[in-house]
Parts: sequence; structure tokens; C-alpha cells
Amino acid sequence: MSDYLERSEEKVKELVSGDDVTIMAFETSCDETACAVVKNGREVLGNSVYTQIAIHREFGGVVPEIASRNHVAKISSVAEDALSQAGIGYDGIDAVAVTCGPGLVGALLTGVAFAKGLAFALDKPLIPVNHMEGHISANYITYKDLEPPFICLVVSGGHTAILNVTAHGSYRELGTTRDDAAGEAVDKIARVLGLPYPGGPSLEKLAIDGDPHKYEFPRVFKGETHLDFSFSGMKTAAINLIRKLEQKGGNYRKEDVAASFQDAVMSSLIRNATEAVRRENGTKLVLAGGVCANSVLRKKALEAAGELGIEVLFPELRYCTDNAAMIASAAYFSMKHGPAGLGLNAYPAMGTTDPCPKGTE
Ligand code: KG4
Ligand code: ZN
Repeated sequence: MSDYLERSEEKVKELVSGDDVTIMAFETSCDETACAVVKNGREVLGNSVYTQIAIHREFGGVVPEIASRNHVAKISSVAEDALSQAGIGYDGIDAVAVTCGPGLVGALLTGVAFAKGLAFALDKPLIPVNHMEGHISANYITYKDLEPPFICLVVSGGHTAILNVTAHGSYRELGTTRDDAAGEAVDKIARVLGLPYPGGPSLEKLAIDGDPHKYEFPRVFKGETHLDFSFSGMKTAAINLIRKLEQKGGNYRKEDVAASFQDAVMSSLIRNATEAVRRENGTKLVLAGGVCANSVLRKKALEAAGELGIEVLFPELRYCTDNAAMIASAAYFSMKHGPAGLGLNAYPAMGTTDPCPKGTE
């Protein structure tokens, strides 16, 4: 074992058994370059996000190589910004955390390489974080007393799952998507409707003036007892509908298509998530991931919770989409499993509940 890793392991043991822990975290898995400084997993001292949305908009989606190049250009400045908001210097942090997967490989590598260099230079432990665990942990920032167990609906651009979070870092998957992620389907339909990237917020905005009951989309798995999702049938039906309407002269209200499709996706998410809470005798449904910024999803969750007599929690909007505060929070709760070595890599296909590999020495 390298001297650095040996020292890191000792330091992590001290941090876990000590008092206050301040973590500086980096997030570069997609098109947000982010750094945050968070105390004890819940108190955000500094949070800096440079979003590349405007850059990727002209291409209609994220261009991986352009994302990586912009992470390289911006990562130092978000780091300086987060520290200056926190009013501390590099000597004030106890550990460095970084998203090591899932995500775009080149984008992840920029954050991993920067965090490794920083951790080694400062001689501080390096804590690897699963991006999806980060999304779940965003809730610990918003709800200062929140502790597992709870049922969590995780919905991002690439992942859709219902988890029973039994303890920090312990999950039982109750349902997942058999094909597209919810965010992916929403982004696709937004694109077919000619809306700007990112699709989810654009579709939500257009849907405000639409009729959510104008069009029906197939609800699959009717009568089946599992809690999995499928969005690809819904997506294909929507694409076919838009083509048919365009062929008929395009004299239709895009608002109605947007509202109906959004309603179908969000209803399906909430139906299965609340059923999971009921089956598990849960009392809390926690939402996580970029799609949980959606107001229709939040409204449906609150309505369903009212009927079931359960609590619904979701992060503040700025912690729903990609940010590094959630990564620092996840690192605080997972550091007991030990630090990573300097061989840490990027793991683009890491699953929603996979533990982070620690790299080699
Ligand atoms: O969690 P996230 O920021 O990045 C990933 O880890 O993928 O999620 C991005 C996804 C995209 O599909 C985006 O369109 C969707 O979240 N999204 C929304 C909203 N804001 C972001 N979907 C619906 N309504 C929104 N307001
Ligand atoms: Zn994300």
C-alpha cells in the first residue's frame, strides 16, 4: 500500500470518530462543472456550479468531448469560488470527494484527475462517490434530520429506480426501468417537438398551457405486480402521434402533446413509487435526481402522499440537478468505507446502487 493511501486511511478513521468534517467535492459527470464545500454532510458552506447548457444547446444535446474540454477550463475557477464562498482556504478542508461514475467517461475523468491531484498535493483523503448516491444525498442537505430508512424514487437523465434505502449506503432495489430512463424519454419528446436543450424544463414550460388529458399514451405492465417502468413504448407512441399530426398539416397544439406526455411519464413514476411505499409499509417517499425538479411530478407526489397519509420529501431545486454539494454530502456518509487510492478511475457504467471502486494504490 502506498504511503499516501496508508496515511489517508488513518485520517479517515480519525474523521469518522472525530467532530466536524469539512469536505470539498467535485462533480463533472455530465455538463455541469461543480465544486462545493460542505460541513458534516448537511451544511453547505460554498456551492459553485458552472453550467454548460448554453454551449450544448446549439447541438441539441451534450457533446461529450466539448463537455470534457469545458470541465478542464472551468474546474479551477469553481474550486476557488466554492472556497471563497466558504471563507476558508485549502487548509480548511479535511477531505476531497469526487464523482467517479456513472456519467460520460471523459467528463468524469477531468474531475477524477483534478481531485486526485488536489488530494495528493494537500495530503488529504480522497473519497469516491457514486453520482446517484449523490442525488439521494441532496435530501440530507434540505432535511437536516432526515435519516434512512425511506423509499426513494431516483429519476435522472440516465437512471430511473425505486429504492428502499435501509441505511446510509444500503439499498434494496424495488423497481427500475426496463428500457429508457424517464429523463431520457422526456428529453427525446422535447427534441421531437423542436424545444431547446435541456428537454425536461422546456417541456415543462410548454406544458403549462396544455391539456394533460388531450392524448392518451400506452400504460404498460397493466395488471402486473412488479414495480418496474417502461418508457420506450410511451415515447414511440408520442413520436408517432407527432408525425401523424405533422402530416395532417401541423395544425395542433404542441402544448397539449407536451402536457399529455409529461402527465403520462410523471403519473407512471408516482404510481409505482407510492405503491412501493405501501408495500414496504414506509412512511416517507423521497424524490431525487434532475427530473424531480419537475413541478407536475412534485404535485402528483404530494397528492398521492396525502391520500396515503405519508410524507413526501424533495431537495431544494438547486440541489435536484447536478451539483457538488450532494457529492460532498454522500462522501460524508460513505467515508467510513475508506478512501480511494491514486489509481482511482472513472466508471461510466456504474449502476445506481453500486459501491465505488477504490482504484489501485
Ligand atoms: O440528474 P440530472 O441533472 O443529470 C443526470 O444525472 O442525468 O438529470 C437530468 C435530467 C434531464 O433528462 C433533464 O431534462 C431532466 O433531468 N430535468 C427535468 C427538469 N429539470 C431537469 N425534467 C423535467 N422537468 C424538469 N423541470
Ligand atoms: Zn445527475
